[in-house]
Amino acid sequence: MSGKATCIATSNIAFVKYWGRIDEELRLPMNGSVSMNIDGALTTTTIAFDEALSEDSVTLQGHDLNPRQIERVTRQLDRVRERAGITLRARVETHNNFPMGAGVASSASGFAALTVAACAAAGLELSEKEMTILARQGSGSAARSIPAGFVAWHYGETSAASFAEQIAPPEHWDVRNLVAITQTTHKAVGSARGNQLVTTSPFNETRVVLAQRAFDVVCQAILDRDFTTLGEEAEREAVRLHVISMTSKPPIFYWQPATLRIIHAVQDWRQQGLECYFTIDAGANVQVLTLPQYAAQIETELAELDGVTRVIHNRVGHGAQLSDQHLF
Ligand code: PMV
Repeated sequence: MSGKATCIATSNIAFVKYWGRIDEELRLPMNGSVSMNIDGALTTTTIAFDEALSEDSVTLQGHDLNPRQIERVTRQLDRVRERAGITLRARVETHNNFPMGAGVASSASGFAALTVAACAAAGLELSEKEMTILARQGSGSAARSIPAGFVAWHYGETSAASFAEQIAPPEHWDVRNLVAITQTTHKAVGSARGNQLVTTSPFNETRVVLAQRAFDVVCQAILDRDFTTLGEEAEREAVRLHVISMTSKPPIFYWQPATLRIIHAVQDWRQQGLECYFTIDAGANVQVLTLPQYAAQIETELAELDGVTRVIHNRVGHGAQLSDQHLF
């Protein structure tokens, strides 16, 4: 057992979303989802199992987590400890280079980095597929941050069947992702709660059918480098996610005025010949998908829109990787 390990993982942006579960405990999704890793949104996590500790100690950006967050991390560490046959408690330090809880999936990079670092520190060797299954149980979207590049996370009725795998490596296609940050405070309703409410929307069954259809179409569009199909499908799917949230009981309205302003700007830019599409996770931030030839102009114009505080320009990212740059 090596004792200490560090992992760097990227967040990812889903073209076909994970929104709703058939199994809460195992985090089995209602439909398969497809994403690309985003290289500018990184979580670095260092973990050391230490016999001097009587409980797990967890910090994020140098601050203690709240008890609910610590419990979620401890449960994930327990899954690793159980597999590795150890009982030692861990010291965990995590750093994100992007704002949390506002639409960039920090739980994706966070639980991917946590899982990979914890396995390495515990001396547990898993295949990439097994690692995605383990990461998924901490946070669904984390499964997609383990493999590199463009990633599919499969629908499955058992834990073993619902894993993530690479569709294509980062070099396959230079898709750009521009995250327009409109709100950096933690959103009012977390994705965990939003996920639980989907079945209260009268439109959920329809969305699940359409999302599963979009899964196949988007996987093929990635292989074909067909940006128009990818973008159109991603926009429709993002709108469907928000329709489910807005029509759930109670309803959740993640959008802010700036969200709609960016949606309209994206439509205008497209009219002008700049090919780009929007997608939105469970938050107010809009992410714009585009190609290299349009990225600089769109980035400049996005940053000038009222309510946009910052733009993060991402390329397709690597998978979760171990590093020797430990945080402690
Ligand atoms: O971050 P999680 O695993 O609780 O799920 C969030 C899901 C969305 O970001 C809203 C969509 C997705 O597929 O990433």
